[in-house]
Amino acid sequence: MQAALRIASRQATAVRRASVFGLQAARAGSTWANVPQGPPVCITEAFKADSFEKKINLGVGAYRDDKGKPYVLPSVRTAEEKVVNAKLNKEYAGITGVPEFTKAAAILAYGKDSPALDRLAITQSISGTGALRIAAAFLQRFYPGDKTIYIPNPSWANHKAVFSDAGLKVQQYRYYDKNTIGLDFEGLIADIKAAPKGSIFLFHACAHNPTGVDPSQEQWKEISEAVKAQGLFSFFDMAYQGFASGDTDKDAFALRYFVEQGHEVCLAQSFAKNMGLYGERVGAFSILGSSAEEKKRLDSQVKILVRPMYSNPPIHGARVASEILNTPALYQQWLGEVKEMADRIITMRSLLKNNLEKLGSSHDWSHITSQIGMFAYTGLDAESMKKLAKEHSVYATMDGRISVAGITSDNVGRLAEAIYKVKG
Ligand SMILES: Cc1ncc(COP(=O)(O)O)c(C=O)c1O
Repeated sequence: MQAALRIASRQATAVRRASVFGLQAARAGSTWANVPQGPPVCITEAFKADSFEKKINLGVGAYRDDKGKPYVLPSVRTAEEKVVNAKLNKEYAGITGVPEFTKAAAILAYGKDSPALDRLAITQSISGTGALRIAAAFLQRFYPGDKTIYIPNPSWANHKAVFSDAGLKVQQYRYYDKNTIGLDFEGLIADIKAAPKGSIFLFHACAHNPTGVDPSQEQWKEISEAVKAQGLFSFFDMAYQGFASGDTDKDAFALRYFVEQGHEVCLAQSFAKNMGLYGERVGAFSILGSSAEEKKRLDSQVKILVRPMYSNPPIHGARVASEILNTPALYQQWLGEVKEMADRIITMRSLLKNNLEKLGSSHDWSHITSQIGMFAYTGLDAESMKKLAKEHSVYATMDGRISVAGITSDNVGRLAEAIYKVKG
């Protein structure tokens, strides 16, 4: 009875407090009166509003099949069935996620014989973005010296926000040369050499987003040398392993080469694109220690960081990915499906280029086929992109980036005509 009275009295006090606070807020206007309207974060609104039947959406960063439809990989369907049929319980995973998944993710990225595997601290993450965010928090807390991270110019639109929200200072290094619509390799090397010793450099491991422009293997070797000479820390974002070339080993070249050369690295991995697990949010963050003992210390601190962020990650998507990575037949099937997706994108690049040439375009479109991955940087300016949307119902970002995944055998002809009409 006494306890019940105490609870009732506490509740009454809470209600009184809430109403006094409400009164104060009403007097001073809304509590949120100072929250400004933010800009829209997504580009699909204009596309949705367009009623033209043959409108083309080249803005989304997700794979589409040749009918323009979202695609669930058959290997994912099979793995999912196996996971469901196993009738596993729904207990929490540990802080670092599903261990069978993270172990296999590390092997996929670093290679099965990599000596790095023994000194790697790894945690499951909320896809690639979550991995970047854990990395940023780790670097913010533990990176010695000036916590400045250099990202390529341009880079994935979310990088700057992820890193600065976590308290890192963000700078850019030269990457893309708009005159050649290719890599500004000299600028990149010069900026590495000019960066303060010990800075953090973020590299897109493959299929650079948004440009689709990657360094060649020879160029990666030179980058590695320059990074070493300058004593920089390398951070790889690998959101497209397998998606660039169709070969998961080839796409991991830069990361593996850096490890081989003795660099200390950390890595953000995503399984959104290469397994089509977008909404399942499957990823991993890993950081390389110099010894097995150091790995243990890193592991402990990753756990301490993750625990207050979200306690532990979701299990379903990781179980599906784990099933694929750990079942030899399914793994082989998946490799074939990744290649099919990559090949469809490569074919669409060629078709777009051929169509533009057939129309008699006076421009050199070879960058469309030399670039790699889901995106092509067309070199079209904002004015042309606006015209494409307004006059041809072709929607993409104003920087001229198009998602090649949105091109199909059916719409490539109309797309080429639209680009030709706008650009000549
Ligand atoms: C370069 C890059 N990094 C990371 C991500 C993260 O994606 P997600 O959080 O969906 O795995 C993306 C997605 O587009 C990307 O392009």
